[in-house]
Amino acid sequence: GLPARVRIHEVGARDGLQNEKATVPVEVKAEFVRRLAGTGLTTIEATSFVHPKWVPQLADAEELFPAVADLPVELPVLVPNERGLDRALALGARRVAVFASATESFAKANLNRTVDEALAMFEPVVARAKDADVHVRGYLSMCFGDPWEGPVPVEQVVKVCRALREMGCDELSLGDTIGVATPGHVSALLTALTDAGVPVETLGVHFHDTYGQALANTYEALRHGVTTVDASAGGLGGCPYAKSATGNLATEDLVWMLRGLGIDTGVDLGSLVATSVWMAAHLGRPSPSRTVRALAGP
Ligand code: HMG
Ligand code: MG
Repeated sequence: GLPARVRIHEVGARDGLQNEKATVPVEVKAEFVRRLAGTGLTTIEATSFVHPKWVPQLADAEELFPAVADLPVELPVLVPNERGLDRALALGARRVAVFASATESFAKANLNRTVDEALAMFEPVVARAKDADVHVRGYLSMCFGDPWEGPVPVEQVVKVCRALREMGCDELSLGDTIGVATPGHVSALLTALTDAGVPVETLGVHFHDTYGQALANTYEALRHGVTTVDASAGGLGGCPYAKSATGNLATEDLVWMLRGLGIDTGVDLGSLVATSVWMAAHLGRPSPSRTVRALAGP
């Protein structure tokens, strides 16, 4: 059966904006996060404490985080290393995320490390976060296909997932970074992970809609018992270090499907659409989300 409730992990302010060429003013980002919180979303990824040269758009993390820290929602942030963790903890972050890759090519492109070097870099981050009672998410990118390496073997993904769990990650997010997954592949990976002893309650899914498969893949994940789904308001975003990564699954499209299935998310679709329309006006182009277009009108 399907779950009664799904927790949406909203990534628009981080994953959505990280790829924008023109700098979005910090006040606009803060207002975006505030409006997202006003829609009933409870987990809103706010920013990344990465090297500002690698992701210039998020160089204002030290200004943004305090500007939204009063909101009554979870505000996870990305931290690639101890330097990032120091910056996040200094501002009182209570949830952090490390981000690993299932493939060598993307580990190199995104973190300037091999897969194993990246895991070694995360180890003290996770240990120190756990000591500070901070929740840790472990992202895993390129779980299905990689732009340089092609299809990614399931065993390779299972291996890195186990390493992240053994390190102490509280939850994992399985990323289809370039959006090539189809439901059969999702089913095979989730089956392999649960067979390997990874509890499905600790798994989230992170789909991209490149080939229009994100909702079908999400539905398959729900059938396997997954209850945490990543999505980006208005379908914003991609990844600056993965060519051919287009938009994330739009939160509105996800909420429309879940609402139709009678699955509770706590999100008000009307105010979410209004938020994405507001953001699209700021960015100067319409949202690619079908649901936003259908509900917002011409
Ligand atoms: P590096 O060049 O190897 O860095 O980059 P380093 O460790 O050699 O350090 C070089 C300098 O950077 C040092 O300064 C450090 O202090 C400084 P120096 O001593 O030379 O003056 N530095 C930092 N400064 C500020 N904050 C930090 C930091 N770390 C080092 N945290 C590094 C390695 C990991 C830093 C770099 O590769 C990086 O920042 N990468 C981030 C890339 C990124 O954010 N990608 C997007 C997120 S992943 C994604 O979008 C996928 C996902 O959405 C899921 C999916 O769809 O698959 C999660
Ligand atoms: Mg993404």
